[in-house]
Amino acid sequence: MPESAQSATPVTFPPAFLWGAATSAYQIEGAVREDGRTPSIWDTFSHTPGKTAGGETGDIAVDHYHRYRDDVALMAELGLSAYRFSISWSRVQPTGRGPAVQVGLDFYRRLVDELLDKGIKPAITLYHWDLPQELEDAGGWPERDTAHRFAEYAQIVGEALGDRVEHWITLNEPWCSAFLGYASGVHAPGRTDPAASLRAAHHLNLAHGLGTSALRSAMPARNSIAISLNSSVVRPLSQTEADLAAVRTIDDLANGVFHGPLLHGAYPETLLASTSSVTDWSFVLDGDLRAIQQPLDALGLNYYTPTLVSAADADPKGPRADGHGASSHSPWPGADDVAFHQTPGERTEMGWTVDPTGLHDLIMRYTKEAPGLPLYITENGAAYDDKPDADGRVNDPERVAYLHGHLRAVRRAIAEGADVRGYFLWSLMDNFEWAYGYQKRFGAVYVDYATLARTPKSSALWYAQAAKTGTLPPLETT
Ligand code: FCB
Repeated sequence: MPESAQSATPVTFPPAFLWGAATSAYQIEGAVREDGRTPSIWDTFSHTPGKTAGGETGDIAVDHYHRYRDDVALMAELGLSAYRFSISWSRVQPTGRGPAVQVGLDFYRRLVDELLDKGIKPAITLYHWDLPQELEDAGGWPERDTAHRFAEYAQIVGEALGDRVEHWITLNEPWCSAFLGYASGVHAPGRTDPAASLRAAHHLNLAHGLGTSALRSAMPARNSIAISLNSSVVRPLSQTEADLAAVRTIDDLANGVFHGPLLHGAYPETLLASTSSVTDWSFVLDGDLRAIQQPLDALGLNYYTPTLVSAADADPKGPRADGHGASSHSPWPGADDVAFHQTPGERTEMGWTVDPTGLHDLIMRYTKEAPGLPLYITENGAAYDDKPDADGRVNDPERVAYLHGHLRAVRRAIAEGADVRGYFLWSLMDNFEWAYGYQKRFGAVYVDYATLARTPKSSALWYAQAAKTGTLPPLETT
């Protein structure tokens, strides 16, 4: 069917489809020194000169810690059926070990009450990158003990909220934690040690496995446990043997390093080979792979843009175009023979190419790779340079088009047999975009950083209509 004819057909989703939005603790909460919370690696990193745009930090962020009631009321107005948020580990367990601080857990208890009261399903992410600083001081993710500490923390939160929260995600995008945190250093804790980044990846996998077992022992069996991966859609610049080999290398480092052990109980042989000059993988101990391959109830996919690669040309250390921030250190251990390219097409404010076919392809890949496993799109969205007009309205037609295109791609995958149960827009509201500080606005709701006032953008109103009717409103009505 030609595109034009397709656009005229109403795009309707299954009745039980979840229409959600996502955030994470450090990006929105603020209140970093309240109620016993201690610094996480992101507090330390953002307060280190030169690490974030303009030296911006999450100290106040969008003050969600104090404004959560109003924020939940706004979600209800927007007709959201689900809300994905993360728990700040150092609010709950300030030293990263030992008994919980109840007052820290109470914040999340109140938030969950508020959501349930409005008929919004909470989806909890246990770890969205904010390791308690004490655990980093003890070695961080390259240390095996951190995985055990995570399992203890998962048990605490599972016991506190497992009776009322059905949807659980252990880790958000472990690729970023391991490789942006410990190899390229553009994320906290800012280390640039390729061997440590692969150890971190393994211990994150182990944390997921041990954490999943802990959650299962702490909560009713009806709950769903998942992990959110930013699985890359890696495409070759050409069909030459060398470019296809580059795809394999990056696909292993982006995807196989996680879904290999999670879904298939082994790291890909080709990954072990391509990284052999960096590490011998002797940190993978007997029994680890069994501990990691826990049955999953669902898989979370986060998607923004595809990755285009080729074999490296003469200057492998030349400018990088892999979209993961400026660093002279690569986030891809052992992949110096790969070059990254800008995918052609329209780009968002992050410089990321808009390409909904990537989301469709990603869903279909996991439909084949993990047959029968329900999928959720746990993040998808775009940053644009949004500004209020003279009447205070924020018009963001580019974001409406982005959401429309990507939701259509999801619907097409469902029609082709994929079991996608929900979509979480990134993000509910503008927030602290990590190393980019407050410069990049991903929200469907605009935040005025001087007053912290929230104003739904036109994309939020468009999305609300989709959420309330289960059908995508045509683009013309916005
Ligand atoms: C993802 C992160 C999320 C946000 C978006 C833009 O990688 O999980 O916190 O930064 O990118």
